[in-house]
Amino acid sequence: MVVTSRDEVTGKLVDVDHGLISREVFVSGDIYQQEQEQVFARAWLFIGHEAQIPKPGDYFVSSMGEESVILCRDRESEVHAFLNSCMHRGMKVCRYDEGNTPVFTCPYHGWSFATDGKLVGVPYFKDAYHQELDKSKWGLIEVPQMYNYKGGIWATWDKSAPPFLDYIGGFKLYLDLLMDSWDGSDSGTEVFGGVEKWLVPSNWKFPAENFIGDRYHNISHRSVDMVGIGPSGTGRRDTNERAGSRLLDVSFPERGHGTVMALRPGDAAIPNAYQDLPILAEYFRHCEEEKKRKDAQLWRLLGGPGTVFPNMSYLPRQPRSIAVWHPRGVNQTEVWRWFLVDTKAPQEVKDYLRHYYIRYSGPGGLTEQDDMENWNYAHSASRGVIARRYAYNYEMGLGYGTPNYENDGLKLPGLILDSTEAKAAEQNQRGFYRRWAEFMDAEDWGILANWRNGSGHE
Ligand code: FES
Ligand SMILES: [Fe+2]
Repeated sequence: MVVTSRDEVTGKLVDVDHGLISREVFVSGDIYQQEQEQVFARAWLFIGHEAQIPKPGDYFVSSMGEESVILCRDRESEVHAFLNSCMHRGMKVCRYDEGNTPVFTCPYHGWSFATDGKLVGVPYFKDAYHQELDKSKWGLIEVPQMYNYKGGIWATWDKSAPPFLDYIGGFKLYLDLLMDSWDGSDSGTEVFGGVEKWLVPSNWKFPAENFIGDRYHNISHRSVDMVGIGPSGTGRRDTNERAGSRLLDVSFPERGHGTVMALRPGDAAIPNAYQDLPILAEYFRHCEEEKKRKDAQLWRLLGGPGTVFPNMSYLPRQPRSIAVWHPRGVNQTEVWRWFLVDTKAPQEVKDYLRHYYIRYSGPGGLTEQDDMENWNYAHSASRGVIARRYAYNYEMGLGYGTPNYENDGLKLPGLILDSTEAKAAEQNQRGFYRRWAEFMDAEDWGILANWRNGSGHE
């Protein structure tokens, strides 16, 4: 089924006004092909962290949609992102995951490209090409727009896409909960060495919508909670920090981003944490005090999982990480996960967190294994000719969000649904698919960048 008109998308496949989304959106090969062009070739995508390429010549091979890209730092320390495909016959120019190099030499016929993308070496240039090849025209293809936001590197293939900060809009406040230092200083974040990568047999949108705010699936993690490493486990920083908090679901339906979080009361005290581990206890107390001193209102925000449209998800606290859901066919997703830590955190804290993160997240992490079971089986049970006739239900909390949320003098941007009593809602997922349908339908950024006034409604 090829989606050809707005009516087809919004009327049949994505009907967020009634909370209905066709399974074709997840299992149709035609729709998958179309979203490579309409979504992944136009949206801003997360491709890496500057801490992965600190020195000239450093590179990290990343991915934008299905395309392999080389994120690298040239000899002048300028950061670039290039399509990882040789201009001669398309060979993957760099087949390593990361490293340092003066040039990328294509393994097929030996063309070499400098770290600024220029074609600098061509075998038999004199004899076979008679020196007539114009090397200046055959450098690597560079992404037209790239942006370093607090160490995170974002890129888009679309020259006409709005600047990254405009793309993020008011969601910046929530993304900052991930990117800013925990202690409120300007020291920034770094990533632990290595990126976890693994394949999941389900469509990329299952994890993207789960991370945008699926509070409802907590039943899936009951066993993890029982063994004590889950959100209610002992030894966790947030064991009692959410006392008295409101639970908020935040959606930006005009942009597609969303997150869930807890909002501490205005008079909340700094909770104790890690009391059995003095270095950690001291460090986290220091972070909380500094952050509260800097901005007592923003300190009240305890960020939870979120998704930046389309396929970058994150957890701002523990395990503090970024996940990118790379599409690898309609039935498969390649997950990449980076783990972040404050650059200035003591080594003991970094070590503790690294172990905790691996235990919790990724293919060996107990929590993520639960999630993957759900995505895998939901996907495969939706592929049959009978199953795909029936829409999924996204009605929960429809129409209960408010665009002008205020609590104890703190005004928050976005469409906010207070799910403290309700326990869960699907507002954020509806916002994600509303935006997805717009991308699938719109011809260009001239249409896509017409943000509606704030987050007025779902
Ligand atoms: S494909 Fe790269 S040199 Fe021929
Ligand atoms: Fe989960």
